[in-house]
Amino acid sequence: MKTSATFCQALLFSATIFLNSMWAYASVSYCKPMDPTKYRPHSVTITEFGAVGDGVTLNTKAFENAIFYLNSFADKGGAELFVPAGKWLTGSFNLINHLTLSLDKDAVIIGSMDSNRWPVIDPLPSYGRGRELPGGRHKALIFGSNLTDVIITGANGTIDGQGAVWWERFKNHTLDYTRPHLVELMYSTEIVISNLTFVNSPFWAIHPVYSSQVLVQNLTILAPLDSPNTDAIDPDSSTNVCIEDCYISTGDDVIVIKSGWDEYGISFARPSSNISIRHITGQSGSGAGIAIGSEMSGGVSEVHAENLHFTNSLHGIRVKTSAGRGGYVRNLHISDVTMSNVSIAIRIAGQYGEHPDDKYDQNALPVISKITIKDVVGYNIGTAGMLEGIQGDNFSNICLSNVSFGSVRSNPPWKCSNIEGYSNMVTPELCNALNQVPSQATDCYDDDILEQQPHRSCASRSRSHFLKLSSMQ
Ligand SMILES: *[C@@H]1O[C@H](CO)[C@@H](O)[C@H](O)[C@H]1NC(C)=O
Ligand SMILES: *[C@@H]1O[C@H](CO)[C@@H](O)[C@H](O)[C@H]1NC(C)=O
Ligand SMILES: *[C@@H]1O[C@H](CO)[C@@H](O)[C@H](O)[C@H]1NC(C)=O
Ligand SMILES: *[C@@H]1O[C@H](CO)[C@@H](O)[C@H](O)[C@H]1NC(C)=O
Ligand SMILES: *[C@@H]1O[C@H](CO)[C@@H](O)[C@H](O)[C@H]1NC(C)=O
Ligand SMILES: *[C@@H]1O[C@H](CO)[C@@H](O)[C@H](O)[C@H]1NC(C)=O
Ligand SMILES: *[C@@H]1O[C@H](CO)[C@@H](O)[C@H](O)[C@H]1NC(C)=O
Ligand SMILES: *[C@@H]1O[C@H](CO)[C@@H](O)[C@H](O)[C@H]1NC(C)=O
Ligand SMILES: *[C@@H]1O[C@H](CO)[C@@H](O)[C@H](O)[C@H]1NC(C)=O
Repeated sequence: MKTSATFCQALLFSATIFLNSMWAYASVSYCKPMDPTKYRPHSVTITEFGAVGDGVTLNTKAFENAIFYLNSFADKGGAELFVPAGKWLTGSFNLINHLTLSLDKDAVIIGSMDSNRWPVIDPLPSYGRGRELPGGRHKALIFGSNLTDVIITGANGTIDGQGAVWWERFKNHTLDYTRPHLVELMYSTEIVISNLTFVNSPFWAIHPVYSSQVLVQNLTILAPLDSPNTDAIDPDSSTNVCIEDCYISTGDDVIVIKSGWDEYGISFARPSSNISIRHITGQSGSGAGIAIGSEMSGGVSEVHAENLHFTNSLHGIRVKTSAGRGGYVRNLHISDVTMSNVSIAIRIAGQYGEHPDDKYDQNALPVISKITIKDVVGYNIGTAGMLEGIQGDNFSNICLSNVSFGSVRSNPPWKCSNIEGYSNMVTPELCNALNQVPSQATDCYDDDILEQQPHRSCASRSRSHFLKLSSMQ
């Protein structure tokens, strides 16, 4: 049928133009332009400021004095603070502009077990209070605010938070304020955190918030699988963030993207967007390999994650939200994922709960749409997925393609409610609400459909990918 063939060719031609423009979009890397190894004309060693690397002497003053001294070089190309081999006990200290904090491979910066060495600072405006308790929160071990051009790096040196004492206080309900992070940078830009090992964070390990141009590269982050709330990397109300080449084994989410909490996050209105995540291997105990939320009230969008390998976790991929959060999660693309020993492989759900106070607006419903998950293989999976929107607030354009979990333990394998979307090549078979192939170009958020088999017919192409040319049917 000549007409039909020509029609098919014409469609393919326009599809190619569409695909090329999508591909160009996809190849945008939020990792650039970053210079992770900037030369600093001035360098000092922490011992020049009286630090003693015996694991016992408290060196907070030495860090403060060294950084105060280096501040005079900030406008002269910046400076490096070198931490040599040794065990350097310290309380929290602040970074400055144009600084490289560089650790020797045998250097260990150790956080004090005395919580008084971690001063209490104001809550984040987008949370309205500490995440765990009302009021302020303990300051991160390594803290910075309103900074430009900061590098925290090493030859795989270590930053150890000695979190066990904080986890105990969490479990026995004797915390005074919300637990601290290992690194927090607020209102900052041009941040690099690379080539280091972080262990035993009291709370979330790395927390860029209200920041942009953040590169997190080649880290090892470790905490026991049963340690409470020890998320590893939490970009929060931040943009142009790149996270790559990390091994993470921790008690909560491996990577989780946030943007503020209920009415405080809604009014602060600072989204997280343009986030690239790739080549991450990890396990998360009671958390997820990759997650969004549950604090997402400022919105989360344009997230590309690929080449992810998760084991021994409660969740693989998770979007968590609730009525009252407001905000949105959209344009999320996750691909090339392997999972093993994961209880719930994919969970996109709106029943999380946890509110900062009773002033939140129950009618502030999150808008969850355009989430594509593709090329996923799982072994030893409990439940394939829980895809549960909110009554009166369907989650829409949830698209799954080439997802294979073999046989899973739960029956039914998928639980779906208040959800709409599309799928293609999913096993075990997905619930009816998502079992059709998309028909419109805009149905799914997909930027990666060039990898088509060259010898497929026009029609079979349209069925086997999220390529939506409704007139082809
Ligand atoms: C990490 O270390 C490697 C090997 O020493 C080095 O080539 C690379 O530039 C470092 N990366 C960063 C971001 O400092
Ligand atoms: C840091 O930046 C924020 C946002 O621009 C501003 O509100 C705050 O006052 C600044 N803080 C300092 C100490 O300059
Ligand atoms: C990662 O860090 C290790 C230890 O510092 C280094 O040997 C390796 O080259 C780094 N890899 C990359 C890709 O930077
Ligand atoms: C860095 O150190 C950690 C902890 O000792 C180790 O597990 C990891 O393999 C090291 N990474 C590299 C790239 O050498
Ligand atoms: C709670 O745990 C902390 C840290 O281990 C400990 O110092 C404290 O005595 C404990 N308090 C109670 C009431 O058990
Ligand atoms: C996100 O990336 C796009 C394309 O690279 C860019 O146009 C946009 O300004 C970025 N958004 C933010 C908030 O930086
Ligand atoms: C499976 O993962 C859980 C953590 O979610 C862990 O406790 C358990 O030991 C793992 N099982 C195996 C066989 O590794
Ligand atoms: C399906 O996903 C697997 C795992 O990522 C990949 O190896 C395979 O090529 C994909 N198949 C298709 C048809 O895209
Ligand atoms: C919500 O999604 C369900 C399928 O899960 C569908 O039956 C229902 O019509 C949708 N509701 C609205 C208001 O679109």
